[in-house]
Amino acid sequence: MTFQFPISSRFGAEPADPVGDLFSVLSRGDIISFAGGIPDGALFAFDDVRASFEHVLAHNARRALQYGSTPGEPELREAAAALLDPQLPTTAGHIQVTSGSQEGIYLAAQALLSPGDVVLVEEPTYLAAVQAFGLNGARMVGVPADAEGMLPAALAAAIEEHDPKFVYLIPNFANPSGKTMGRRRREAIAAILLATGVALVEDDPYGQLRFSGEPLPPIASWEGMARQTILLNSMSKVMAPGLRIGWMRTEGPLQKILGIAKSAVTLQSPALNQLAVAHYLTHYDLDAHIARVVVPYRERRDAMHAGLLRMLPPTASVTRPDGGMFCWVRLGDDTDTAALLPRAVEEGVAFVPGWSFYASDPDRSTMRLSYVTNSPETITEGLARLAIALER
Ligand SMILES: Cc1ncc(COP(=O)(O)O)c(C=O)c1O
Repeated sequence: MTFQFPISSRFGAEPADPVGDLFSVLSRGDIISFAGGIPDGALFAFDDVRASFEHVLAHNARRALQYGSTPGEPELREAAAALLDPQLPTTAGHIQVTSGSQEGIYLAAQALLSPGDVVLVEEPTYLAAVQAFGLNGARMVGVPADAEGMLPAALAAAIEEHDPKFVYLIPNFANPSGKTMGRRRREAIAAILLATGVALVEDDPYGQLRFSGEPLPPIASWEGMARQTILLNSMSKVMAPGLRIGWMRTEGPLQKILGIAKSAVTLQSPALNQLAVAHYLTHYDLDAHIARVVVPYRERRDAMHAGLLRMLPPTASVTRPDGGMFCWVRLGDDTDTAALLPRAVEEGVAFVPGWSFYASDPDRSTMRLSYVTNSPETITEGLARLAIALER
């Protein structure tokens, strides 16, 4: 006799996990992967990170190994506040340390959403944010975007129609599109959110990884917006994702609510990692490290962007990001990139099919390609393989 084990979850009984499934294929050593959005580990500041951990364990081990406070270690909150854009006055008191910005997204979802609530997202947007919102019962509504991201008129119309709980945006070098929202667009979005009182989750893990153009202030810095914005930052893309250290900047009632959520979920982020990151930020030069890292990243972006322009069909478009990790391709024909992927893997190259980044009505001719982990030569070789898969 066999027993059934019926399992159900908010993802359904057999949820689609396109990115998870893809990564299990990529363990094959001969594949050039443009799929992962992960920093190049060869560029980590190993010596400085090791020295920071050694220092903390030698001088502050008791605190590092003990429970700490929910908002985070004071040294790290102080250092994080100093990193934020000066146009958004920030003190350590505004900072809640999180285990990566992903935890910030999840805490925002868990604290603010009730089943059936609407979250407005750009089309396309970051898959794991959509998963976090969905897991907390939200209904995602995609808002149309142009080359600079979410369209203000479409946002205003969607707020009117759906009465959303919050809007989720990635204004700098978005995942997956690589797009950056210009200053006027930020201003227009802020004006709509201020007029309607809708909260903003502003996710900015990539902002410091800029290769070209001028840094832009966060939407949270527009007058009045700080009160209704959860601004998320992370050390993952600029230092090391394995540390799982990020933070959120909030104030007023939002700060209190999210502090309670953080305490309910994990009590605190690991004190050892917090103190090591704080030591790193106060004793080493993060800006100099980023300046070193963006040199190869810029070359790799250029290699991928130029290579894509050469190989893609005339119907296609591709973004040229000013920073971050991703080029976003729209083939603009009837190619389904989910069907293209197995052919590409056979040829020895991988990407993420674009459909999985849409809240609704996916453009199936899209794909996300990360340039950060491969050399320009490997990128060129990978794109040659992709060209063969496209022709098959
Ligand atoms: C837009 C965006 N937000 C958040 C995250 C999560 O990053 P972490 O939790 O490592 O800070 C990622 C990671 O890829 C991302 O692309």
